[in-house]
Amino acid sequence: MQYAHITGWGMSAPESVMTNDDLSKLVETNDQWIRERTGIQQRHIAGPDQFPSTLAVEAAVKALTIANLRPTDLDLIICSTSSPEYIFPATACLIQDQLGATKAGAFDLSAACSGFIYAVNMGAQAIRSGSIKNALIIGTETLSRFVDWKDRSTCILFGDGAGAFVLQASDEPGGVLSAVMHSDGSGGNLLTLEGGGSHHPATETTVHDGKHYIKMDGNEVFRFATRVMASATQEVLDCAGLKMDDIRWIVPHQANIRIIQAAARGLKLPMDRFIVNLQNYGNTSTASIPIAMVEAIEKGQIQPGDKLVMVGFGAGLTWGALAAQWTGPLPSKGHVHPEQYRTFARLRSLVRRALRFIEGLLYRREL
Ligand code: COA
Repeated sequence: MQYAHITGWGMSAPESVMTNDDLSKLVETNDQWIRERTGIQQRHIAGPDQFPSTLAVEAAVKALTIANLRPTDLDLIICSTSSPEYIFPATACLIQDQLGATKAGAFDLSAACSGFIYAVNMGAQAIRSGSIKNALIIGTETLSRFVDWKDRSTCILFGDGAGAFVLQASDEPGGVLSAVMHSDGSGGNLLTLEGGGSHHPATETTVHDGKHYIKMDGNEVFRFATRVMASATQEVLDCAGLKMDDIRWIVPHQANIRIIQAAARGLKLPMDRFIVNLQNYGNTSTASIPIAMVEAIEKGQIQPGDKLVMVGFGAGLTWGALAAQWTGPLPSKGHVHPEQYRTFARLRSLVRRALRFIEGLLYRREL
């Protein structure tokens, strides 16, 4: 029996910070309203040269360093994102190329803010089936590119960032213990980004109508979120045969402090059992859970042996939860330096492109 352990973790957030006061210069809002209604104080915003893949690669290199794995050890890369760089190629393939993960399959997963939970579950299932040994799971977003900076009901919420886990196979029990995934497409209209897909391909009209911006019915999403956070947490514990007392931490999607407080009330748990860092990052969508996890590990809150639940919700509608026992890196010999592979990866990518060009010329001559 193979278990999927979380053996590496890393995060990345753009250095540029936008405070609530900064926002009050763009729209009619103020720091007090945003703090009281959401808990958010600031968010990180990607610069012009920062993309989901660049943030993801920074997070991934940190995760690989902790796991002591080379990019070439990876069998699979799953990138969860709602702000992919292109419709295709997948952002996961850009990450694979930038890392030099030459043996990995790579694909994107779209389940909005629940995506990281879905992605960790998919990676863990692949490991448990015995088909792969090492997976890199990434949640990465630059949703700021799709925010309407004139819409005060959405622009105050979102921030950019990335988080990554390395999952590894081991005979030792632990790691991912159970997961639940849910969806309800009848609520798809509550949180949308319609433009640029095949239903509304980008045209002057779609841009004029603002279809390239995030649109949200905040009150409906709020109601849905408060309902599912507690129920999914309880359900995933039942699946793992665990009781609430077995769990040290709940790591919720970082959307709004009032949603987390409602979940705490629903589960009859004190707020100090919840990991919260949304005040510093806002809602980074699929990246929010891994970013919260990484900070909590680095602060020493999450310790080896701790059992915890990650729980999220988002557009779709989607929601899900994952129970895990935190173990840390597997024993390994020597030290690898994944960051050094980035230079090789860049070189390799250029050489592959040049070879493909030459091959193309030769092939054309043969025809
Ligand atoms: N600054 C100041 N006032 C604002 C404001 C802002 N940024 N945004 C809205 N308001 C106003 C509204 O216009 C309204 O004014 P009115 O009473 O004069 O009409 C009032 O504040 C209350 O608006 P309401 O929408 O009821 O506020 P709220 O307390 O529900 O908070 C959200 C709005 C968006 C923060 C909240 O609904 C929410 O967090 N929803 C979930 C969103 C979410 O998590 N999305 C991501 C899912 S992954």
